Amino acid sequence: QGQGALSGVHALITAGPTREPLDPVRYLSNHSSGRQGYAIAAALAAQGADVTLVSGPVALAPPRGVTLVKIETARQMLKACEDALPADVFISVAAVADWRPARAATKKLKIKATDAEAPAMELAENPDILKTLSNKRKNRPRLVIGFAAETHDVEDYARAKLARKGCDWIVANDVSGDVMGGAENEVVLITHDQSERWPRMGKEEVATRLARKIAAELGGDDGG
Ligand code: C5P
Repeated sequence: QGQGALSGVHALITAGPTREPLDPVRYLSNHSSGRQGYAIAAALAAQGADVTLVSGPVALAPPRGVTLVKIETARQMLKACEDALPADVFISVAAVADWRPARAATKKLKIKATDAEAPAMELAENPDILKTLSNKRKNRPRLVIGFAAETHDVEDYARAKLARKGCDWIVANDVSGDVMGGAENEVVLITHDQSERWPRMGKEEVATRLARKIAAELGGDDGG
């Protein structure tokens, strides 16, 4: 660190799924691999940024030179992000569970089918981390970037999301093909005044390109 287009920049990134407990042995989660977020953390560190990576449970080794903060739930992820501020750029790549079981039992639930009725699970809404950080009055990162996975009308939905969340850029992921959990990604970078469609490429390459864009935006000298 100390060298590169992003030296002196603090980058905060979320990656992976969150895991929402139902009881000590069960949880709600999703299939996020964390690959794209980890690749972005690595690419920013390679350009000299000071990187904090807040990650849910994934099977990946932390990139070199990155400060890894491991969490499980969405609420822990939000707290870890707030604790890591101030940051110059926030990139919300995590697949945050939108809902959690309203009550996490402290003892293993007995849910065998002894009764005639299936047990019901009450859900509570999780905080929206991207929206929360985008709307901070104090300590809002200068550049806030969200991700959006869409199967159709990618740009329209992404643009609506940009406005709803209050972020600066959206990396819209075209998941109509087979990119979910795969090694490649097809993205459109949406800003307030333009959209840029990138060809299908490896997640590492998406990360490198995004890191260059970020450097250019934050006033680095390696943009393009
Ligand atoms: O609304 P949607 O889940 O499609 O938005 C995706 C974007 O919002 C991603 O950048 C994701 O990391 C972020 N997000 C979040 N907290 C949530 C839900 C989504 O930060 N509870």
